Amino acid sequence: SINFKNISTDPPKTQGFCTFKPLPPAEAQEERHFLDLIALPETPLVPTPLSLEQTSHPANSTFTILPKSGGGEWHVGDQLEVLIKMFDFQGHAKKTGGDFLVAALHSKGLGAGVTGRVVDHLNGSYSALFPLLWEGSTRVEVILLHTSEAVTVLRMLNIERPDRVIFKGVFRSGSVSETTVCNVCLPPSNQSQCNYTDLHTGDPWFCYKPQKLSCEARVSHRITGYKYQGIKNEKEKLFQKGVNLKVYIKASGPDSVTVLPQTGGQSGPDDGSEKLGPSGYYYKGVWRALDGTRLQQFNNSTAISQCLKGKMVYMYGDSTLRQWFEYFKASLPDAQEINLNNPVRVGPFMILDNANNFVLTYRIHGLPLRIFSIPASKERYVANELDGLIGGTNTVVVLSIWAHFSTFPFELFIRRMQSIRRAVVRLLDRAPGTLVVIRTGNVQTVRQSGMMNNSDWYVYQINLVLRAMFKGLNVQWIDAWGMVLAHDLAHNLHPPPPIIKNMVNVLLSYICPKK
Ligand SMILES: *[C@@H]1O[C@H](CO)[C@@H](O)[C@H](O)[C@H]1NC(C)=O
Ligand SMILES: *[C@@H]1O[C@H](CO)[C@@H](O)[C@H](O)[C@H]1NC(C)=O
Ligand SMILES: *[C@@H]1O[C@H](CO)[C@@H](O)[C@H](O)[C@H]1NC(C)=O
Ligand SMILES: *[C@@H]1O[C@H](CO)[C@@H](O)[C@H](O)[C@H]1NC(C)=O
Ligand SMILES: *[C@@H]1O[C@H](CO)[C@@H](O)[C@H](O)[C@H]1NC(C)=O
Ligand SMILES: *[C@@H]1O[C@H](CO)[C@@H](O)[C@H](O)[C@H]1NC(C)=O
Ligand SMILES: *[C@@H]1O[C@H](CO)[C@@H](O)[C@H](O)[C@H]1NC(C)=O
Repeated sequence: SINFKNISTDPPKTQGFCTFKPLPPAEAQEERHFLDLIALPETPLVPTPLSLEQTSHPANSTFTILPKSGGGEWHVGDQLEVLIKMFDFQGHAKKTGGDFLVAALHSKGLGAGVTGRVVDHLNGSYSALFPLLWEGSTRVEVILLHTSEAVTVLRMLNIERPDRVIFKGVFRSGSVSETTVCNVCLPPSNQSQCNYTDLHTGDPWFCYKPQKLSCEARVSHRITGYKYQGIKNEKEKLFQKGVNLKVYIKASGPDSVTVLPQTGGQSGPDDGSEKLGPSGYYYKGVWRALDGTRLQQFNNSTAISQCLKGKMVYMYGDSTLRQWFEYFKASLPDAQEINLNNPVRVGPFMILDNANNFVLTYRIHGLPLRIFSIPASKERYVANELDGLIGGTNTVVVLSIWAHFSTFPFELFIRRMQSIRRAVVRLLDRAPGTLVVIRTGNVQTVRQSGMMNNSDWYVYQINLVLRAMFKGLNVQWIDAWGMVLAHDLAHNLHPPPPIIKNMVNVLLSYICPKK
C-alpha cells in the first residue's frame, strides 16, 4: 500500500457534467471524508503540448536495497527497506511525488511472495518496506504502474469524460425497436432523458428518450464500445506499455537478499508487529494470513462440501466473483447446477447439493456494467438483493464490486457502497450471525493504452474507500490486491486458477473457522 504525507485535499480544478444529487448532511460529510482519504499529493501538471521529457521514466529510475540498520545479515523477522529514486526522460531526478509504484518480494523456487508497503516522500524518492517471512534467497520487484503525470490525466478523465465507455439501452414494443445512449450521467443536450434512478437505493441511471417508444419500453442494456473524442491523442504517450506503464524499475546494485533463519533476537513475523504491512503472503504457493486468520486448505470436493453443509452462500458482484462460482462448480461434481436459462455472465446461477443441504448462488451487480447484454428485467442493485435476505448463521454473503466503476467520478462508487453498507448494517442488525465477506479489487493485465479505461490506480483508490467504509462493521476481507501482487503469475483482472483456489480457501476458512 502507499502512504502519502501532506496530501492536498483540494478537488481537482476541473468541472465535469456529472452532477450528483445532494446527499443528507451526514452522508455528504462522509463522502467528503472519503474524497479526502483518496486525495493525491499535488501531481505535476501535464504540459501542453505534451512532452515526455520531464515526466517520470522508469528506465532511468532505480531502486537500492538499503543495508540492515545496525549492520549484519538478514534474518526472518527483519524488515527490509528499499529506496526508490525516480528520474525523468532527460535523466534528471524527479522532485515531486505521486508516481504509482508497487513492490513485492518473490522467491520463485519456494512459491513465496509478499507485497511491500510503499511510502511516497513527495520529493521523487520512495521507500518500500517488506517483512522478511521466509528463509532463502528472495528478489525485490518494484513496478511503476502509472507515472504521476498519468495519474493526473486519469484523475481528470473520470471527471471530464465519464461517458467514455459507450452504453446503450434497447427499447422494444411490438415490432418497433430503438436504441439510445445511456449512462450514469449524460452530457447536456436538448434531448429528453429517461430517468431510471433506483427509488430505494438512489443509484442513478439515465438514457436519452427514444423517438417513438416510451421510457418503460427499455428491454436491455449493453456496452457498444469506447470513445476517445475530447481526449488528446497525445496523452496516450503517458500510457505506453513497456515505457511508462507497468514497467519494472531496475536495481542500482543487487536486487536480491539471502535471508537466514530467525534468531532469538527478532520479534518474529506473526506477532502483530506488522500491523501496517501486508495481510498475508505466499509460501509454497499457499496463502498464509498475517492478520491472525487461521487459514485452512480445502483440497477436494469432500472437504469443500463438508464445510458448506447447511449453508446458503449468496455471491453478488462482477465477473471476478463469477470466477469463484465457476471454481465451486468445477470442484463440486456431485452438486447440481440449476440454471433455468438465465443469461450468460448475468445469472442468477445456482449450485445445489441436496445430500449436504447447501446452496450457492451468483448474481451480477447493478449498472453500470460493461457487458455485452443484460435484460433490463435482470438488473438488480446489490443493496436491494441484501434487503431480501433473512440472514443468520447459515447465511454467507460475498461481495465483489469494483471493476465496472473505473471510468466514473469517485462519487459514484462511494454512493454505491454507502447504499450497500446501509443494507449490510440492516442485515447484520436483523441477523447478527450472518457472515459478510468482501473481495477487494486487484491489478490487471496491461493493454496498450487500455489503462485509460481500466486503471490500477483507480482500483487502488476504491480499495481504500472500501476498507474505510466498512471499518468497524463485522465483515471479513479477501485482500485480492495483495493476493495478486504477491503471486508471481502475471497481473490479471481475472486472476488465474492458483490464485482463485487460494482466495476460495480464505473464504471457506471464514465459513468454517478451525475450532
Ligand atoms: C534516460 O532515458 C532516455 C530514453 O530512454 C535515454 O536516452 C537516456 O540516455 C537516459 N538517461 C540516463 C541518464 O539514464
Ligand atoms: C526525500 O525525502 C526523504 C524523507 O524525508 C529524505 O530522507 C530524502 O533525503 C529526500 N530526498 C531528496 C533527494 O531530497
Ligand atoms: C438547446 O436549445 C436551445 C434553444 O433552441 C439552444 O440555444 C441551445 O444551444 C441548445 N442546447 C444544446 C446543448 O444543444
Ligand atoms: C431522477 O429520479 C430520481 C428518483 O425519482 C430523482 O430523485 C431525481 O431528481 C431525478 N433526476 C433527474 C435529473 O430528473
Ligand atoms: C492440501 O494440499 C496442499 C498442497 O497439495 C498440501 O500441502 C496440504 O497439506 C493439503 N491440506 C490438507 C488439509 O490436506
Ligand atoms: C480430502 O481432503 C481431506 C482433508 O484435506 C482428507 O482428509 C481426505 O482424505 C481427502 N479425501 C479424498 C477423497 O482425497
Ligand atoms: C480502451 O480504450 C482503447 C482506446 O480507445 C481501446 O482501443 C480499447 O479497446 C479500450 N478497452 C479496453 C478494455 O482496453
